[in-house]
Amino acid sequence: MVSQVVVAVFLLCGTLFQPPDVAAFKPLFQGGSLTHREITQLAILRKTAEVCRDIAISQGRDFTLPINNGLTPSAVQKACSTSSASSSALSSLSFYSAITETYLSNAAVDVAFALSEAHHVDNEAFREGRDLITKGVAAVKASVQQGSYISARITLGALCHTLQDFYSHSNWVELGSTAPFSTLIKPELLLNNIADPSTPTCKSCIGPNCADNILPEILLHKKLTSGYFSIFSSKKPAGKCSHGGFADRTSSREPIGGINKDDISSDHGFLHLRAAEMAINATMEVLQDIRLATGDQAFLRLVGLSQTSVLAFVIDTTGSMSDDIEEAKRVSFSIIDSRRGTPEEPSEYILVPFNDPDFGPLTRTDNADIFKERINSLSPFDGGDTPEMCLSGLLLALAGAPPSTDIFVFTDAAAKDSELKSTVQAMIERTKSTVTFLLTNPFSFGKRRDVLQSGSFTSRSIYESEIQLYRDLAHVSGGQTIEVTKDTLSQATAVITDASTSALVTLLQVVRSPAIAENFFFVLDPSLSNVTVYVTGDSPVFTIYSPTGVSQSGSVADGPLGSILTVGNLKRVKLNSDNQTGEWKIRINSIDFYSLIVTGQSSVNFLFNYVEQLEGGIFAPKENRPFIGRNVSLFVSVTGGDSITVTDVLLVEASGSDVVHGTIKSLGATDFLVNIDRIPEWAFVVQLKGQLNDSTRSLPSRFQRQSPTQQQGSRVTITAQPSSTIEPGIPFALNFTLVTNATGGRYTIRARTDRSFNVSFPSSLDTGTEGSAEGTVTLTAPSDTESGTDVTLTIEAEDPGSGDSNYVAVWFTVMTKVTDFSSPVCQVVSIKADCPFECSKASWELSANLTDGNGTGIAGVSLIRGNGSLSLSYVMSADGTNVTVAFYNASCCSQEVELVAVDRVGNVGTCFTSIKSPSTTISPNGSYSVSFSMCVALVGLLVSFLYG
Ligand SMILES: *[C@@H]1O[C@H](CO)[C@@H](O)[C@H](O)[C@H]1NC(C)=O
Ligand SMILES: *[C@@H]1O[C@H](CO)[C@@H](O)[C@H](O)[C@H]1NC(C)=O
Ligand SMILES: *[C@@H]1O[C@H](CO)[C@@H](O)[C@H](O)[C@H]1NC(C)=O
Ligand SMILES: *[C@@H]1O[C@H](CO)[C@@H](O)[C@H](O)[C@H]1NC(C)=O
Ligand SMILES: *[C@@H]1O[C@H](CO)[C@@H](O)[C@H](O)[C@H]1NC(C)=O
Repeated sequence: MVSQVVVAVFLLCGTLFQPPDVAAFKPLFQGGSLTHREITQLAILRKTAEVCRDIAISQGRDFTLPINNGLTPSAVQKACSTSSASSSALSSLSFYSAITETYLSNAAVDVAFALSEAHHVDNEAFREGRDLITKGVAAVKASVQQGSYISARITLGALCHTLQDFYSHSNWVELGSTAPFSTLIKPELLLNNIADPSTPTCKSCIGPNCADNILPEILLHKKLTSGYFSIFSSKKPAGKCSHGGFADRTSSREPIGGINKDDISSDHGFLHLRAAEMAINATMEVLQDIRLATGDQAFLRLVGLSQTSVLAFVIDTTGSMSDDIEEAKRVSFSIIDSRRGTPEEPSEYILVPFNDPDFGPLTRTDNADIFKERINSLSPFDGGDTPEMCLSGLLLALAGAPPSTDIFVFTDAAAKDSELKSTVQAMIERTKSTVTFLLTNPFSFGKRRDVLQSGSFTSRSIYESEIQLYRDLAHVSGGQTIEVTKDTLSQATAVITDASTSALVTLLQVVRSPAIAENFFFVLDPSLSNVTVYVTGDSPVFTIYSPTGVSQSGSVADGPLGSILTVGNLKRVKLNSDNQTGEWKIRINSIDFYSLIVTGQSSVNFLFNYVEQLEGGIFAPKENRPFIGRNVSLFVSVTGGDSITVTDVLLVEASGSDVVHGTIKSLGATDFLVNIDRIPEWAFVVQLKGQLNDSTRSLPSRFQRQSPTQQQGSRVTITAQPSSTIEPGIPFALNFTLVTNATGGRYTIRARTDRSFNVSFPSSLDTGTEGSAEGTVTLTAPSDTESGTDVTLTIEAEDPGSGDSNYVAVWFTVMTKVTDFSSPVCQVVSIKADCPFECSKASWELSANLTDGNGTGIAGVSLIRGNGSLSLSYVMSADGTNVTVAFYNASCCSQEVELVAVDRVGNVGTCFTSIKSPSTTISPNGSYSVSFSMCVALVGLLVSFLYG
């Protein structure tokens, strides 16, 4: 293990997180170096802005945002927002978090595949590198098609790492290239003109000066090469270039020195900015390919932009649940129908039914009508014995929903699969989703409860201890366990309506058990609206105090501060909107367990991810529980304001009042690196406090936000290679490593997938005196699994003595091997244009044949430029190929058209035609034909030909 850490440390190849004092995390273009994080983020922002611009133009709207390297997520989000309604708060959290997910996955490649030449295009591994890229692109397209956006982002991030490294590690830039090397994303193009394995490519640098170390004949013949790299040995083929830098031992052997452009101080650092700029352009090119294959709306969803709120239901469908199902139907239909077409309309719907022994399937759709149809078709079914597969259903929803989703579980029975508790908890921590249970069981606590259903006695019952399982999961997620009768469920579902709004933020979340009287404080800021306080528990007595000293007791339904709904064990206080700003107090007295949650709507929110500082100052993402007693950093992004000061980032004890303060370092306008000296023993939530410096207000105002999800540390950590694709029917072996703080011990291992795929794994591992152990999980997807299906594998390690545990969650995409690498081809058959000077008076038309050769066949044809009308017909040519005939008709004022044809595996062919080409002349009868630039593929061919 030690050697692995060292590897990560010395890995200079395009390190994402560099020591904050050296080069990374600087604001852009201040003469510093660009990291993978910045390259990826800029490419996503610029491409997203282009997509929004094109949509705006096609809808006749203005789009004024300049698309350059100065873009920020909030600026892009604002420009992309179609509603001018400023009334509803806009959240850029999902946009930030999609970008973050992508670049963290990019960064993880440096740790997980530190020594893989293919992942970094070292050692002239161009073919292997391109294979990783093109397989990744196919997997991203398939994932997007299946709505598996999380897997898509993870795969996208990883493939971008290799794509971006090409520009730093090869001599593409030194060859004087002015455009990205498109062949890297086009598997059908020949990858040639790579320097022969025996051809020397470099000469030694002159002292520290490596400006001219590539051999002139390599440059002259435009031969591609990349630097050799090894931290173990100085061996390399004779005459080859090295990567360079102190960690690369090959660069100390003839020819001495290297060619990498990783940062401005690298051997070819003088080309760093050019290589980084080219990497941004190349990343945009791959994003464009994905956009064309999947469509603009899916692309916006991939980057997390079109997400507002998600309506996610996990519903028990046993016989006694018919009333609950009716209520789930009623409340979801009401939300859908009242918000259709408004900015508050949910962007995605998730539904998972469960009973016993079945659960699933997961329905994940952006189409409200499909969701309605699915929920309508749920029919209660008497499964016999009472406990149900509740946690299996929940696990499926957690893995399939976007991060930070509010999930509602409807049931009246205990969970049969309670052994999944720790896996569900791990997924809650990983996804930061919130789970609220709506339990309809009419009798009181402490005894077995039997349910009378429509006069007949059924044996459904639920024990206090069984409810506790739901409570525990609700609490770690920041949700609630609401216990009501079937009659009053319809009042309790107000919490669903509350949560299904965009830009929901948590201000405070507290659980207490056993409880004593306690005061809690929270600050309301001017950006908030619809502030709601929830108190759940059997007997809590509370009073709320406003900043001006006005108070209202929890037993007063309508008072000076707000209105209070009491149903079952829930009290929900909607605060009036006047006099809100300032510090509020709530005093709660209870002899029993209770929870307190304060939420509101605001565009100001934050997101955090753990990053670990490895030796040498490099930061790497850490996507599970941090080590208790050791330091860790939080990478924090604050959304919703360009002028925000963060004053405190705190770890607050989840069921107590201990606090650990972080040290905050600003990394630009909205990003912060927060160092935590010691991860505490107790579970905690992350709280952020600061000031909003709104220019329209004279004084800055205080604000606070809190992460709803509880976090905790562990004394063991588990890591596994992030892997993106597995083939159906073929066992896939994934190695994982367990590390403890050197005390050793035997750990129980569990591995599960959310889709109940076949998994085999060692039942326990001994970490011995080394404090580490390795294991292998073998995972097999059924052979009929559809390509693009995602599956999450959760591997857990638990110390059976203390109960301490940690986990790793790996997302996979199931993909049948892609054999179709050929893009559709477009051939213009005729153009008829009779365009007078006054263009609005006439129209022109074009007809084109689109074919996919021996590929999988054309799946769709659309317009990405031109606002005329497109119609398609299908014929079979003489040689038996299917031809899609496109007929396009447009006003003479719209002189350009670009068609996109996508085949069944997502290969894209485009074809652009313009009738304003200066080389064309209008003939007397007005008809003419123009030359057109053929499919982009041909341009790519040309490029590879030039270098071929
Ligand atoms: C990147 O693309 C932009 C816009 O197409 C272009 O102006 C710029 O020159 C390109 N940069 C490089 C290094 O190729
Ligand atoms: C939320 O607040 C906004 C602005 O104050 C208001 O227009 C809207 O009706 C509120 N929504 C709900 C559900 O109360
Ligand atoms: C709101 O503020 C006004 C003026 O400061 C005060 O008279 C009134 O009582 C306050 N109302 C509440 C509900 O705090
Ligand atoms: C996984 O572990 C096995 C056994 O230790 C080893 O043979 C194999 O090479 C490892 N696979 C990878 C991809 O590291
Ligand atoms: C491991 O961690 C525990 C708790 O932090 C501590 O008591 C123990 O001494 C540590 N062991 C080592 C070898 O660091």
